[in-house]
Amino acid sequence: MYPKLPNAVICATGSYLPQKVLTNKDLEKMVDTTSEWIETRTGILERRLADDDMASAEMGYRASLKAIEDAPGVKAEDIDLIIAATVTPDYQFPSTACLIQGKLGAKKAACFDLGAACPGFIYALTCGAQFIKTQEYKLILVVATDTLSRITDWQDRNTCVLFGDGASACLLKACREERGIISCLLGADGSGENLLKVPGGGSRLPASETTVKEGLHYVKMSGNEVFKFAVRIMEKTARDILKKNGLQVSDVDWFIPHQANIRIIESVAKRLKISMQKVILNVQKYGNVSAVSIPIALDEMNRSGRFKKGDLILLDAFGSGLTWASCLIKW
Ligand SMILES: CC(C)(COP(=O)(O)OP(=O)(O)OC[C@H]1O[C@@H](n2cnc3c(N)ncnc32)[C@H](O)[C@@H]1OP(=O)(O)O)[C@@H](O)C(=O)NCCC(=O)NCCS
Repeated sequence: MYPKLPNAVICATGSYLPQKVLTNKDLEKMVDTTSEWIETRTGILERRLADDDMASAEMGYRASLKAIEDAPGVKAEDIDLIIAATVTPDYQFPSTACLIQGKLGAKKAACFDLGAACPGFIYALTCGAQFIKTQEYKLILVVATDTLSRITDWQDRNTCVLFGDGASACLLKACREERGIISCLLGADGSGENLLKVPGGGSRLPASETTVKEGLHYVKMSGNEVFKFAVRIMEKTARDILKKNGLQVSDVDWFIPHQANIRIIESVAKRLKISMQKVILNVQKYGNVSAVSIPIALDEMNRSGRFKKGDLILLDAFGSGLTWASCLIKW
């Protein structure tokens, strides 16, 4: 018999949200839209925007500091690995994880970025959990950070009303109890690459006068198709992970879906027959903050003391790639 491997548990959380608030009323002055349209079609009331001198690494650093403060006795120097989930890194290279490490003084930590768009936090959590399980590393910082305002076309009403900026982090360590990250399910379908992408600025279409003139460094999205995909895949991945673990929807205490649109969330909850009272929402306050939306919800629930020991939490996300991911956590 091999000895049982430890579980990875989230032992601390922290978030950073920029102070600047952009309301739907503000957007009415920027594009041809109405506050009512945004609220009824998306559920978003306002979103946060980073100041001009703030970018993903600085927000990720501030969220990480909060997570470290939340872990008694833990110092930045104790961290073995930093994984940063982001689609808006400060630079092509070095990685945002390296920049966060430098700011924290987490000298021992290995660092890399992980690009899986909106499910990026679940992908990074899954990845970190494997290093804990194999006992390769003892303390891992998983950070999600995105400055989507920098890749948003503020003249495109189809997309500019949807996104916001922010960062959120958690620390993972080993635990011998039957709790923590108990299961993860990741998926992707690259044939959907054109539904949601930033076409310019990479090696395919390097930044040039033309890419800038044509706005190719901004998010391009087929909103309606992404919507349909999201509802279908979020239901499927939630059902699949529960089945894989011999669990029912009724076993779930809290459902934390990616926060892109309240109508997507409500449709998924209805299909799963999960009460909206179990669904954690922050889309109204922050809009879609890509990989950051789910860990902000985890952090707010953790800090408000609403999670009870032993609660079963289901995370569920979809995004550009196309990608999707779900995760079961026993708190
Ligand atoms: C983008 C989204 C809110 C649009 O809502 P929708 O109900 O699907 O609306 P449609 O795309 O069908 O557009 C309906 C009309 O509203 C218009 N419209 C779009 N944005 C608008 C805005 N901000 N204000 C007013 N009208 C708007 C469209 O131009 C369209 O007008 P038309 O019929 O004259 O062409 C919705 O499709 C969505 O949330 N999709 C998923 C996006 C997502 O999750 N992205 C991130 C993935 S991580």
